[in-house]
Amino acid sequence: MDELVIRRMTEEEVKAVAAIEKATFPRPWSEESFRREVTANVAARYLVAEKNGRVIGYAGAWVVLDECHITNIAVAEEERGRGYGSRLLEALLRTVSSLGAAWADLEVRVSNACAQHVYAKAGFVSVGKRKRYYEDNGEDAFLMVCERLPEADPAFEEPPHPASAYGNEEGHPPERAEGEEA
Ligand SMILES: CC(C)(COP(=O)(O)OP(=O)(O)OC[C@H]1O[C@@H](n2cnc3c(N)ncnc32)[C@H](O)[C@@H]1OP(=O)(O)O)[C@@H](O)C(=O)NCCC(=O)NCCS
Repeated sequence: MDELVIRRMTEEEVKAVAAIEKATFPRPWSEESFRREVTANVAARYLVAEKNGRVIGYAGAWVVLDECHITNIAVAEEERGRGYGSRLLEALLRTVSSLGAAWADLEVRVSNACAQHVYAKAGFVSVGKRKRYYEDNGEDAFLMVCERLPEADPAFEEPPHPASAYGNEEGHPPERAEGEEA
């Protein structure tokens, strides 16, 4: 049986992820953008789905306080419709739950019925429209929100970051260097 493994994305998977992104979206994120997300953005969490050792999908989000913003999710075209996208989304939501997120939001093209279906199954509801959100064709986006995230996944529990963008261990904001802009 084909085994799907979902785990945190590392720098090693960036090339494969960027290739799926390029084949999927009209305005793809660059390889460098994904590299920054996994190496420098403390608010970002990205997962990859691996099948027989090959990256076939990914999903990512930014977590700020109790909000999770889903930035992207895609499955390689030849692997769609097999439940992998839903499993990636579920794993991502459980990951951000582990980090203290209480709700999630995202934008999706009004024409993307498949993604909307996957999001609705995970508990997202459409709460509004962002007019002409997509620059490539001027298409509107639905803004979808999920107010009840699934339980945290112990497999993705992380120790508190010593001095992350959202505070140090005591919950205070990181100290600012002299002369640094707020
Ligand atoms: C969206 C995406 C990640 C979903 O991944 P996937 O592996 O195909 O998803 P799943 O197989 O878990 O589920 C697909 C579901 O959509 C349904 N579906 C497929 N086409 C559909 C359509 N045109 N309208 C409504 N539902 C549709 C399937 O029946 C299935 O539903 P079910 O789980 O109730 O049976 C994948 O299609 C993808 O990569 N799309 C291109 C990138 C993209 O659009 N990303 C989202 C940007 S907001």
